Amino acid sequence: MKKIFLSAVLLAATASCTNDNPLTNDESANAVAKTESNVSRICPSEEIREAALRDSPELMSRYMNVEKQTQEFLKNAEMGRVLADGTIEIPVIVNVLYRSSAENVSDAQIQSQIAVLNADFAAKNADITKLPTEFQTIAAGATGVSFRLVKVNRKSTTVTNWQANDAMKKASTKGIDATDPVHYLNMWVVGDMGGILGYATFPESAGLWNDGVVIAGKYFGKTNNAPFNLGRTATHEVGHYLNLRHIWGDATCGSDLVADTPTQTTKNYGVPSYPKYDVCGGVSRSTMFMNYMDYVDDAAMYAFSAGQKTRIQATTAGPRAGLKVY
Ligand code: ARG
Ligand code: ZN
Ligand code: CA
Repeated sequence: MKKIFLSAVLLAATASCTNDNPLTNDESANAVAKTESNVSRICPSEEIREAALRDSPELMSRYMNVEKQTQEFLKNAEMGRVLADGTIEIPVIVNVLYRSSAENVSDAQIQSQIAVLNADFAAKNADITKLPTEFQTIAAGATGVSFRLVKVNRKSTTVTNWQANDAMKKASTKGIDATDPVHYLNMWVVGDMGGILGYATFPESAGLWNDGVVIAGKYFGKTNNAPFNLGRTATHEVGHYLNLRHIWGDATCGSDLVADTPTQTTKNYGVPSYPKYDVCGGVSRSTMFMNYMDYVDDAAMYAFSAGQKTRIQATTAGPRAGLKVY
């Protein structure tokens, strides 16, 4: 039984490497038409994770433990035996790396991001009212996760082009070292990462030096950089940090390991019009493209599902239980 489960997890871990390569797809999409809506359309969190898992047996075993724990939590929740409800206030450290005063995001800007996270994870965002009736039954409601800004670290830099390679997370590579990543969510705000809005580590990296979320400053908090102007890049990346996968499972008709989110063929961009049906395995389903874990514009995403909430709670009660405001 245990063996079967582990191979299933391994399969899930490698499936997205073989079925689909979002990085390549996105790059070729960019080559076709560079509009503001699709020029920054790469979220490399899952690809970075897969490379790291391939490189490190240690990280792979942490990953398998996280997923095993998550599935156990899910079973307990289904049977009405949730041991810990996973409600948590996450202390946040914001590390700002800036080259110009424009890149040195203001305290107000940072507070606007914390406010967006608190609204979105509590389903108190104003646009939740746009959720179509058919998805209201599976809406997460409050996830039980809230955020509190604890400290802002700032450092000026000469780096013009950051990459999604963790350099910003170490003082020795012109970054800022993480503050106690077992107990704090570290967020790094950098000037520019080319086509990348942000990226995150998943819970198998809990407490490691590179654990946390990176966001390009232009998209951090509420800004005037439409269509990524509502602080939802952080909502999406913190979703990964709390063990949510992309809703299309990073593969054609892939799985996000969440039962209630309808399987969809691939990522969506821009502002899709509802309803949007996808056929996977011969079954046509109305897709939940307004989910924070899709790739749509900030104004087009406004909900987590109940199944995603369960994974989040498995994470805050499990591999990320160290996150607490004392
Ligand atoms: N990391 C993703 C990206 O770089 C974030 C996408 C989040 N979507 C959004 N509308 N902000 O594309
Ligand atoms: Zn992502
Ligand atoms: Ca699903």
